[in-house]
This record gives sequence, structure tokens and C-alpha cells, in this order.
Amino acid sequence: MQSMNRQRGRISVPDFVAKKAAGQKISMLTAYDFPLAELLDRCGVDGILVGDSLGMVVQGRETTLSVTLDQMVYHAEMVGRAVQRALVVVDMPFLTFQLGVQRALEHAGRILKETRCQAVKLEGGADQAEVIAGLATAGIPVMAHVGLRPQSINQLGGFRVQRGEQRLLQDAQSAEQAGAFAIVLECIPAAIAAVITRTLRIPTIGIGAGPDCDGQVLVTHDLLGLGQDPLPRFVREYAHLGQAVGEAVARYVDDVRQGAFPGGDESYE
Ligand code: KIV
Repeated sequence: MQSMNRQRGRISVPDFVAKKAAGQKISMLTAYDFPLAELLDRCGVDGILVGDSLGMVVQGRETTLSVTLDQMVYHAEMVGRAVQRALVVVDMPFLTFQLGVQRALEHAGRILKETRCQAVKLEGGADQAEVIAGLATAGIPVMAHVGLRPQSINQLGGFRVQRGEQRLLQDAQSAEQAGAFAIVLECIPAAIAAVITRTLRIPTIGIGAGPDCDGQVLVTHDLLGLGQDPLPRFVREYAHLGQAVGEAVARYVDDVRQGAFPGGDESYE
């Protein structure tokens, strides 16, 4: 009974998919910790992604390749505990799903069992159809990810726009046929994303894929102005928190040096 109450008001995988048929755009953002996940959830975002982008955003690495399953579980557990409403999707890191269905099942199963999150995301389309089907059959909802796949950065030669309509469409259709419930389209021309979005029944979630996707996802740190410099063209900075933090910290340092902090009101009698 208590667990049914906990699910009340929660966006489920079918709710998420139904938004496409209802013509409702889907908003998604990344989170890697409890306070930010709680804040995003309260602000009404539809989906929260615990992305392996945490390797770059939180760990300061140049790629996502070194992120481990233990690290994803650690962050996803905090996010899963914080979120009451949004659908929470967790990235499967590099080499946790490419080694076959059995290994992928063990790793995705661990994510769902240990984190209270509802779905996994994996980078792949036609090449991962067997794994997507295996997970979906086991009741593990899968969000696929085609276009620019950061885990293939060494093969792609850099973070750049992916073209080739036939291959992208084929990847997206294979993921849908294999049982994916949604698909991230990263860094592809807007016109190709529009064709894919019209062709698929499941929602497309774009990042650098133009306005016609069924939903959008951004790295929250980029949106808040805490991100990398220079930002990719597809990011819109809705706030400049990096600058605000810089100014606040400079004032604090100055106050401490001048003996102006703490004051009487900030001290105990
Ligand atoms: O890891 C991540 O945050 C992602 C999004 C950028 C889509 O895959």
C-alpha cells in the first residue's frame, strides 16, 4: 500500500510515451545528486537523466569513458531518493552493455534494484538491438541514444555533428522495434531529427537535434551557466550561476580578510 502511494503522481514510462501521442513536449535535464534532483523535480521537469556526462561535469574528465557502474549507482541512488514525480533514467556506462545481453541484464538490473530509478539509457541503435530487446523483455525500460555517441568518441574523432539520414533512421527504427520506449537524438541536423520524429511511435528527445523532437534534454550545469567553456552551439544558458558564484565567493574572501565576517548577529553570545 505504501509503495502504491509512493508511485502516485509519478510519471511512469507509459505516461512518458503517451505525451507524444497527446502532442505534449517532454522536458528532461541531467542531475547527479540529491539537492539538484529535488529542485528539478519540484520545478516540474518530466524526466531526469543521471547521465554518464557526470564523468566530465562532476569528475572533470575529458570524456565519459572512465565512468564506472559503481559510480553511476552511487549518483543514481541519491537522485532516485530525491525525486517524487519525474521519470528517472540512468545511463549505462561504457562497456557495461556492449559485452552481450547477459552482462547488460546484470548491470541494468543492478541499477534498478539499487537506485529506485525506473529506466536505463544506452548508447546504440541497430548495433544494440539485441541488448535492447533482452532488457525490454526482462521488464527493464530502455531509452536508446543515437547520433553523436560520446562513448564512441575515439571512433568518431571528436564531438561533432553526425550526418547520414539513412543510417540514423535505421538506428532509430531498430531501437524502436527492439523495444526502446524513447530515444535520445544527439547532435544531428534538425531536418533528419524531424524525419525520425515523424517516423517513430516512441518519443524522440533531442540534444542538438532541433525543435521538432518530441522533447529536449540538456546538461543542467550548462543551462545554469556552470558548464564548460566554450559551450556547444545547442546549449542555451538560462542563468549565469558561474559568474554569481564567483562574485559571492570573492565577497566572502574579502569580508574574511577585512574582519567583516562573521558579525555580531552571526556569532553566539
Ligand atoms: O550523459 C548525458 O548526460 C547524456 C545527455 C547529454 C543526453 O547522454
